[in-house]
Amino acid sequence: RHCILIGAPVDSGKRRTGCLMGPDAYRTAGLAQALGSLGHRVEDIGNLTPASHAPDDDTGRLHQPNRTIGWTHRLIRAAEEALPRGLPIFLGGDHALSLGSVAGAANHAARTGRPLFVLWLDAHSDFHTPDTSGSGNLHGTPLGYVTGRGGFAGFPVIGNPVPQENICILGLRSVDGAEREALQATRIRFHDMREIDENGIARPLAAFLEHVAAQNGLLHVSLDVDFLDPAIAPAVGTTVPGGATIREGHLVMEMICDSGLMTSLDLVELNPFLDERGRTAQVMVDLAASALGRRVFDRPTQSYS
Ligand code: ARG
Ligand code: MN
Ligand code: MN
Ligand code: MN
Repeated sequence: RHCILIGAPVDSGKRRTGCLMGPDAYRTAGLAQALGSLGHRVEDIGNLTPASHAPDDDTGRLHQPNRTIGWTHRLIRAAEEALPRGLPIFLGGDHALSLGSVAGAANHAARTGRPLFVLWLDAHSDFHTPDTSGSGNLHGTPLGYVTGRGGFAGFPVIGNPVPQENICILGLRSVDGAEREALQATRIRFHDMREIDENGIARPLAAFLEHVAAQNGLLHVSLDVDFLDPAIAPAVGTTVPGGATIREGHLVMEMICDSGLMTSLDLVELNPFLDERGRTAQVMVDLAASALGRRVFDRPTQSYS
């Protein structure tokens, strides 16, 4: 496949900074080499910058809304331009980048006449609107935005909302009250860690992938570092104990690969400032490699520390 690496050093989605270093951490951890060794053609278009935007001040309830609006414009365009050419891999950057990557993927899908599906791998549901967010951090809002919830004044208008039934969230263990109420009133498929502990992660994922295949859908995968347990992925500002294991993470990625359905990917929330000798960046690179075909018998020796 033709993998297009898109550096998106979005750091406006929350107050703790550092995610802007993510794209270069993925490069340093050897993402391009890993995908290249699997036989893919890899193109790195470098790092994007946000579209011009009004300055932010520190007075409002929301943190840096204008900068995130600038990023959203830019990332919608980047997704629309890359998807006709190959498989975009968005190197975050915090999860606010997915306001743009997913909205752009939805626009592309609409042009092709195929439905877009979204697999959200995250401890959080990120289903807030600017009005319901208690933190004012817009990285908690991308699924609210792309499904067409209200309250996103000043943001690009969502022309192609992602249907709720086309979204599957895996890994939930931190959902705010307002999100839980809203989420339970939707047709979004969500599976928390309790359910994954009881039934395994393969069952709900397989059901979702079959659904995507049956609808001839495009599949956008959004991988938040905090989907993983902080013991194996410490480099994230919003750690929540009890996350996916390294084995569950790779199983998910291998199943995605086997399905042949993935058409775009976000790697988000990596904060290299919080990492330990690059091990979280390395785990994310290894997961991306699994999603793109790495298997036990052609796997290079890995070192996580
Ligand atoms: N729900 C919390 C909030 O709105 C946490 C969101 C965390 N999101 C993320 N992409 N890590 O602030
Ligand atoms: Mn625009
Ligand atoms: Mn998230
Ligand atoms: Mn999260």
